[in-house]
Amino acid sequence: MKCLITNIAQLINTRTSVKLLRGKDLAELPIIDDAFLALENGIIKDFGRMDQISNIKDDLYANFDIVDAQRATILPTWCDSHTHLVFAASREDEFVDKIKGLTYAEIAAKGGGILNSAKKIANTTEEELFELGKNRLNALMQLGTGAIEIKSGYGLDTENELKMLRVIKKLKAYSPIPIKASFLGAHTYPIAFKDNHEGYIQLIINEMLPAIANEQLADYIDVFCEEGFFSVEETERICNAGKQYGLIPKIHANQLHASGGVELGVKLGALSVDHLETMDDAAIQALSGSETIGTLLPTAAFFLRMPFQPARQLIDANAALAIASDFNPGSSPSGNMNFVVSISCIQMKMLPAEAINAASINGAYAMGVGDELGSITVGKKANLIFTKPIPSINYLPYAFGSNLIDKVMINGVFI
Ligand code: NIG
Ligand code: FE
Repeated sequence: MKCLITNIAQLINTRTSVKLLRGKDLAELPIIDDAFLALENGIIKDFGRMDQISNIKDDLYANFDIVDAQRATILPTWCDSHTHLVFAASREDEFVDKIKGLTYAEIAAKGGGILNSAKKIANTTEEELFELGKNRLNALMQLGTGAIEIKSGYGLDTENELKMLRVIKKLKAYSPIPIKASFLGAHTYPIAFKDNHEGYIQLIINEMLPAIANEQLADYIDVFCEEGFFSVEETERICNAGKQYGLIPKIHANQLHASGGVELGVKLGALSVDHLETMDDAAIQALSGSETIGTLLPTAAFFLRMPFQPARQLIDANAALAIASDFNPGSSPSGNMNFVVSISCIQMKMLPAEAINAASINGAYAMGVGDELGSITVGKKANLIFTKPIPSINYLPYAFGSNLIDKVMINGVFI
């Protein structure tokens, strides 16, 4: 199928060569005004200014179907490189308890938190979880998400971790957008291993990982490296065990404490270290110039009323930054990447260009799809957002909470 999209007000993030962006490069957002975009079989073939193809009927594009963009702005879809999209039930009661002033510990004592989600996963079938995941995925695609990473971590025993990962594998087969799976067995200690942490780590290493590798259920290994959860030493052991099976680390680090998770991630060659609400100089220095991507999750900071991530300091330190939704029922019950981009500008003082790059190109790298998505580049997938009429690209993060997406195209087809 050949298609020529004409009459594009602005074509955003057009690049002939692509690389992971860091420091000053993050603020460069190439734009073509009055543009066209040619697609073939769902892949970007060509793009340029409309006046380069003034006589559409006679030229190169004579046998292309014409799609008139009617002055829409077009940008590559978001690459959401950190989510917990597979979960059994929402947790709005905890949300109300928190508003009433209950602490995290008090909520946990009432059976809340990650263990609450684990209990619900255990009582939900693979089929039910698939339906729930499929519906969430479809809703997020309408909001412009064109690639997504999904974690396990609410199973916390072999049967239920495998169940979650099998659901993600089915979602991969069903989904028109790329999905990557992360094994997060080390999300918290299950009740059965409350007083036997070593026993649970052994279970992860000796039972869960071999079974996951056997069924090829995961691309990445994740650990919640945090005081009261998994220590730096425990995180290192678990990540190294995952690496033995070819799983690259992507670590939950420095959310509540500057506990050394970021430095460990860099040392292990992690693809990304994610959260980063609590950064000290050593952690910032570790990411400076590193290939490990710092993935900021500002909606988790927003929802938990925590200080926002130090995006400016990290950019000044020449770190490669991505932003992601952390969609999960406990700390970020929204997977809306448009809001993630807005809040990154509003609260972390990222420039719109920086936030858009961090949510597309760098997000793509943070989930291993940098060569197929994240920019308007010949050979990449035609996963595109068509906006409603907007005065400029800066309007997108500025008008937070407005739905400015008119249509979404995935693999060259409107969904
Ligand atoms: O990334 N911080 C650890 N895990 C999740 C939240 C898990 C939950 O509360 O269900 C996060 O924020
Ligand atoms: Fe998370």
